[in-house]
Amino acid sequence: MTRTLVLLAHPTLPESRINSALVEGIRDLPGVTVHDLYAAYPDFRIDVAREQELLRTHDRVVLQFPFYWYSAPPLLKKWLDDVLEYGFAYGSTGKALHGKTLTVTATVGGAEELYRPGGLNRFPVRDLLLPFDATAHLTGMSYQPPFLVHGTRTVSGELLADHVRRYRALVTGAMEGQLAAAA
Ligand SMILES: Cc1cc2nc3c(=O)[nH]c(=O)nc-3n(C[C@H](O)[C@H](O)[C@H](O)COP(=O)(O)O)c2cc1C
Repeated sequence: MTRTLVLLAHPTLPESRINSALVEGIRDLPGVTVHDLYAAYPDFRIDVAREQELLRTHDRVVLQFPFYWYSAPPLLKKWLDDVLEYGFAYGSTGKALHGKTLTVTATVGGAEELYRPGGLNRFPVRDLLLPFDATAHLTGMSYQPPFLVHGTRTVSGELLADHVRRYRALVTGAMEGQLAAAA
């Protein structure tokens, strides 16, 4: 069975509406491991060996987070810095991640129309996520189109339920081809 590791990085999950709904929507899926980084490492001291073992034992990696200052919350950046070591994730002997997929799931406060040239936020979120694309490339992972929820403050309950359904389908892999084709 394909195994999917969802690395959730939300600094204030109890106050989250969107990420908590998304993660609850996939938690029960077979083959899915949800790993809440802020719960695991409130002191930011990451257990690198444990994280590398989790990566080794999964085929697909999803990084899920609220978009903060056009990027990921700080513990996810530290996770990348600490866990993707030379000799593990890159370098001539660093092949542990080769052949896995990487998907970013980001919830974004601003509406999609604001994320374009001439708009308030100037660039599409997909462009602002390019460091993840480059990281996937360097580590031999296949970068998938990001899963984005825009305009988080005004998402209706109905629309949120629809996003949860789409996310569930993505994580089960059913929509992977469609999303790739639409990208
Ligand atoms: C510190 C901080 C920084 C944020 N930076 C951005 C940003 O750069 N762009 C944006 O569109 N929204 C930004 N937001 C809004 C969050 O993306 C939004 O509140 C979150 O995705 C909602 O998801 P949640 O309900 O799971 O918390 C920011 C929010 C906080 C608290």
